[in-house]
Amino acid sequence: MLAHNVEIRTARFEDLEQIIEINRRSLPENYSYDYFVYHLRDFGDLFLVASIKENDKEKIVGYVMNRIEIGLSNFGFSLTKKGHVISIAVLEEYRRLGIGFSLMKHTIERFKKYNISEVYLEVRVTNYPAINLYKKLNFEIVKVTPNYYSDGEDAYIMSLRLKEAKK
Ligand code: ACO
Ligand code: ZN
Repeated sequence: MLAHNVEIRTARFEDLEQIIEINRRSLPENYSYDYFVYHLRDFGDLFLVASIKENDKEKIVGYVMNRIEIGLSNFGFSLTKKGHVISIAVLEEYRRLGIGFSLMKHTIERFKKYNISEVYLEVRVTNYPAINLYKKLNFEIVKVTPNYYSDGEDAYIMSLRLKEAKK
């Protein structure tokens, strides 16, 4: 169950330092500052943070960064508007509290407002916490991309169908 003092809200530029710190601590995929800024500028409504109040100060404990792309459907052969989950992470001390699930749920709700037909992401084939999280949200493994990561690990492409693509 999501702890009641956790708030999910749209990310702001002032949050970037904490977001990047969480990214560095949680994942080997460490993007440049500009990469975060680009997503915040162009897809700001799809960039979310989880925050808590600590001694009257707000602390960011998780983030999810998303964007919209036009591409081939993972469920057919048509071009479609897809939601891409670029990166999600929760600070280690705050995991297993439902925060990752809540960030993803909010992401899916926001994507729905943009007439998105499916949401997809890449995940390391050994990243069981993340794979379980996506499965719990009904994502399916649709493809394996060999050698996707810089250290040679394979990626699963996982996808969630939101609705039939418009013809
Ligand atoms: N082992 C097994 N299943 C897990 C685990 C775990 N350690 N952690 C989460 N899950 C699954 C469970 O199904 C869980 O549901 P349950 O608690 O009812 O069993 C479900 O995910 C939801 O768990 P949350 O508590 O909401 O997840 P959390 O807040 O801990 O965040 C996350 C999950 C984001 C994957 C976190 O573990 C993390 O930050 N990991 C490091 C960064 C990372 O790997 N990010 C994903 C990379 S792929 C990408 O970004 C597209
Ligand atoms: Zn990706």
